[in-house]
Amino acid sequence: METGSVLVVGARGMAGADFLKCWPGATGLDLPEADITDRDSCRKLLAELRPRVVVNCAGATGVDWCETNRAEAFSVNVAGAGHLAEAAHEAGALVVQLSTDYVFDGTASGKYAETDPTKPLSVYAESKLEGERAVSRATPRHIIVRIGWLFGHADKSFVRAILRRAGDGEPVRVIDDQVGCPTYSYDIAEAIGRLVDVGVTGTFHFTNVGPCTRLEMARHIFERAGMDTARLVAITSSELPWVAKRPARAVLSTEKYRTATGAAPRHWHATVDDALVRDGVRLHGT
Ligand SMILES: NC(=O)c1ccc[n+]([C@@H]2O[C@H](COP(=O)([O-])OP(=O)(O)OC[C@H]3O[C@@H](n4cnc5c(N)ncnc54)[C@H](OP(=O)(O)O)[C@@H]3O)[C@@H](O)[C@H]2O)c1
Repeated sequence: METGSVLVVGARGMAGADFLKCWPGATGLDLPEADITDRDSCRKLLAELRPRVVVNCAGATGVDWCETNRAEAFSVNVAGAGHLAEAAHEAGALVVQLSTDYVFDGTASGKYAETDPTKPLSVYAESKLEGERAVSRATPRHIIVRIGWLFGHADKSFVRAILRRAGDGEPVRVIDDQVGCPTYSYDIAEAIGRLVDVGVTGTFHFTNVGPCTRLEMARHIFERAGMDTARLVAITSSELPWVAKRPARAVLSTEKYRTATGAAPRHWHATVDDALVRDGVRLHGT
């Protein structure tokens, strides 16, 4: 992908900030200079910047927040996604929209394909699914990438959050009753580049390989950072003050991505290791 002609919106978020590190020369915008809920300003921006690819990382992403702020969630995740896609269409750009494994209800024992029926359990998930539809309606030149549990180099990223909590010497309580696929921001950036380069459009699933629980992910982080895993305590999601429902098992098939690009996503162990090294952690047990 010619990264110099890419515009990233939501550029100060977890995904957006990491994508900019991976894509030299790409332009990044976020609130307040780019507000996707403002249709006219999206049009103006894109008419002025004329990017070839617009990657929408902007969103209302607080799953519990969305549950009690439905109108605002829909304004950003549905109307906003649609405005940006319309503006991209008018400016002759391809739009890449990030979406989520939460569009599924998590009752399947196998992997979800792109064609499987969706059933969002929360306002956040509903808004993301409607956002996909708004993008599809706005322009045929779209790639929707549904990802799993995003982690990267933001302070709120799970890898950093676990290391921080490990640092205070207390037991670290982590949920062990939900299964998903960790997905590293740097690998998503590469996957988007590959999808753009092969010239496909439509919906694609992309995650790192290997379903796990958050506790299993935390255990790997502890082991690699040389910390005592005995301090990890398994809890269930019912012990957390969550308002919104999450899928119990959201595992996405990446077969369509593999076929389109000829590339295989990496195992999450390797990508968590990469993230730790990038954050300056010396790896143990390698
Ligand atoms: N995090 C995950 O585990 C996960 C999993 C699956 C899919 N996704 C999807 O991946 C995408 C990126 O997620 P993320 O975790 O990187 O999100 P994030 O860290 O919350 O970043 C979102 C960014 O969008 C900005 N934003 C909010 N409203 C906006 C508006 N009206 N106009 C322009 N920018 C706006 C936010 O600014 P403020 O911070 O100032 O509001 C923030 O900088 C989202 O579409 C999300 O649904 C995330």
